[in-house]
Order: sequence, then structure tokens, then C-alpha cells
Amino acid sequence: MEGKFITLEGIDGAGKSTHIDWIAKKITGRGLGLVMTREPGGTALGEALRTLLLTHPMLAETEAMLMFAARREHLGQVIFPAITRGDWVLSDRFTDASFAYQGGGRGISVNRLDVLEDWVQQGFEPDLTLYFDLPVEAARSRLELARNPDRFEQEKCAFFERVRSAYLDRAHKHARIKIIDANRTIEEIQADISVILDSFLP
Ligand code: ADP
Ligand code: TYD
Repeated sequence: MEGKFITLEGIDGAGKSTHIDWIAKKITGRGLGLVMTREPGGTALGEALRTLLLTHPMLAETEAMLMFAARREHLGQVIFPAITRGDWVLSDRFTDASFAYQGGGRGISVNRLDVLEDWVQQGFEPDLTLYFDLPVEAARSRLELARNPDRFEQEKCAFFERVRSAYLDRAHKHARIKIIDANRTIEEIQADISVILDSFLP
């Protein structure tokens, strides 16, 4: 039997990294094989593209195409083989991030992103997406305490407001995307994730 593909999404600082290991344990606790990965990245070439994407200035269109180039490699080398052999895949970000950051944030039209998505994924999409929703100000103040900002994290609040609203817009259009109110304690958030996973995991 084929494995399932789960993705985590949210603006920078929303809490994905905080919860990913805990989510992984819930999956492996059911005896399922699991591959954990991330975007941009997940392959040697993808990680090289990630370094460029997080550090090198570039046009919005170049950024979008490099995100999808890394994704094509990721699908072919990691995600499809894992699912085919029956493993589950948990990815820190996937295509919804391109619609949120390159679409909402940078202003690339949904139509153009739809073309790249069709070209690279040919109808494939995650089975379940956990979208961590957090007001931009709250994410900012969490990040200020935490780390040095990369090229995306250096963007202004208005950029992240557009990213967040693009995520919410997409979440309202796709039943696979579950909105998690991330503006609460870790325990409260995990209780919500448990309910979602309990109805999804075999
Ligand atoms: P992301 O991976 O989505 O960018 P992180 O998981 O790295 O976000 O979280 C950003 C910062 O916020 C980290 O310092 C983390 O410890 C902190 N954090 C995560 N979740 C919460 C929470 N529910 N309440 C308060 N702080 C949190
Ligand atoms: P992430 O791994 O969440 O960063 P960190 O390790 O700092 O938590 O993601 C790296 C950045 O890439 C993030 O700011 C969002 C951005 N991104 C896009 O703009 N488009 C995409 O398609 C993806 C997958 C990520």
C-alpha cells in the first residue's frame, strides 16, 4: 500500500520546527515508516538551491522557478520513491508556500504558479497539510528572540501579512489544509494536532 504525504506550513516563526518531531513520533508510533524532509531542500541539489534562495538576491520569477526546480528533484528522488515503497513523508513546507510567498508575498499571479504546479506535480498534492496560523506581530516577536534572519525573514511586516492572507485564502479552498491556531501554548496546539492526526492515521 502507498504511503501518505503530510506537509507543514505557516509564516516564518509560526512554530513548524517546534512541532515537527512530535508529529513524526505520532506517525512512527503507529508503526508506519517515515521520511522527514523539507523545502526548499530535501536533496543535495535542493539544499544547494536552498542556500541560493535564502541568501542570493534574485527576481521574483527566478525565485518561483528555483522553488519548483528544487521541488521537481525532491519529488523524483525522495517523495515519490518513499510513498511508492509504502513509507509516509512529512515535509516542512511544500507548494502551498510558493503560493503564499511567491504569490502573496512577491505578487506572482496564481495563474502562473498554477502552471508551474501542474508542470512539476501533474495533479499530485499532499494528503494532509497542517497550516500553523499566527498573527505577523506574534511571529516577529517569537523570531526576534530566536535567530538571525534569512533573506525571507528580513522582509517587512506587510510582506508577511500578504503571505499569511494567501495561506488563509488557499486553506479555505482546499479541504486537505487544516488551519491550526498557533497563537496558543504548545500543549493547546498539540491537542488540536492530535485530534486531526487521530482521524487521519490508520
Ligand atoms: P517555524 O519553524 O515555523 O519558523 P519555530 O518552531 O522555529 O517556527 O518557532 C519560532 C520561535 O517561537 C522559536 O523560538 C520557538 O521556541 C517559539 N515558539 C514556538 N511555538 C511557540 C508557542 N506556542 N508559544 C511561544 N513560543 C513558541
Ligand atoms: P524554512 O525552512 O521554513 O526556514 P527556517 O529553516 O528558517 O524555518 O523556509 C525557508 C524559507 O523559504 C521560508 O522563509 C519560506 C521560503 N519558501 C518560499 O518562499 N517558497 C517556497 O515554495 C518554500 C518551500 C519556502
